[in-house]
Amino acid sequence: MPDTQPLDLQAVLDDIYRELTPRLGEGKVADYIPQLARVDPKRFGMAIMTVDGAVHMVGDADVPFSIQSISKVFTLTLALGKHGENIWTRVGREPSGSAFNSIVQLEHEHGIPRNPFINAGAIAITDLVLAGHTPKEAIGEVVRFLRYLADEEDILIDGEVARSEAATGYRNFALANFMRSFGKLDHPVEHVLGVYFHQCALSLSCRQLAKAGLFLAAGGSNPLTKHSVVSRQRARRINALMLTCGHYDGSGEFAYKVGLPGKSGVGGGILVAAPGRASVAVWSPGLNHNGNSLLGSLALEMLANRTGWSVF
Ligand code: DON
Repeated sequence: MPDTQPLDLQAVLDDIYRELTPRLGEGKVADYIPQLARVDPKRFGMAIMTVDGAVHMVGDADVPFSIQSISKVFTLTLALGKHGENIWTRVGREPSGSAFNSIVQLEHEHGIPRNPFINAGAIAITDLVLAGHTPKEAIGEVVRFLRYLADEEDILIDGEVARSEAATGYRNFALANFMRSFGKLDHPVEHVLGVYFHQCALSLSCRQLAKAGLFLAAGGSNPLTKHSVVSRQRARRINALMLTCGHYDGSGEFAYKVGLPGKSGVGGGILVAAPGRASVAVWSPGLNHNGNSLLGSLALEMLANRTGWSVF
């Protein structure tokens, strides 16, 4: 769409919602975390927060949901703030081409996960966030960071989701123990996963999430809160990782169809940065075969087509 034409973003959102309404409920809600399986599959929300402060919302955009792996963007940002580029001795920056919870690459890559967004990589990042903290303090730091980013106190962790995941997190325990066996985790596995399960259980609405992610679309600072979060270069680099690794083995497909940096979670949320334009969050619990929101991905594809916001 040419820049000279004013873009009615609310109309675009309303159209997307209308077109997708007959399909609500498609996809498969994640059930390996029992508490997530209880979510109504027909929920759908979407929020756009532009860099000049406009907010557009549709559907359940104010209903909090479990952000799950989207939290990995925020812990990566925290770990970079704490340890700078040294974090790259613990985790790589390459797409994995594997499922989010895959263990296969870890052995011949000596306990160094491919990137910070697959589970193994995010666990390594959480270990770095824990440095100098008790698990409780580290969880507090993550929650405070989200509240600071979104400029809202009303951001909480769903304790039931965290407990549910801890009770069934066999894969994550396997990944963490494996990394620890290579000497690649500094803290006890129980501590690292305690923090990891809680960060995944953060509940945010699309509106809160879009606001929390706005710094990524706006060169590192949040133009609404005036909070300076990271340097322009760091925001660009986090976006690059989201584009190449944010959807696991569906990252290529998402880049092909949407063309924007994004991070998904098994709760059905996706956070996207349209650099220089807006931060977008969508939530639809039904997932596709890669564990990414089915209708959420489709909604973002429709948005990218209608706005011309692809980075390509
Ligand atoms: O580690 C897990 O299994 C979840 N807490 C997070 C996984 C997740 O969101 C993967 N995303 N698509």
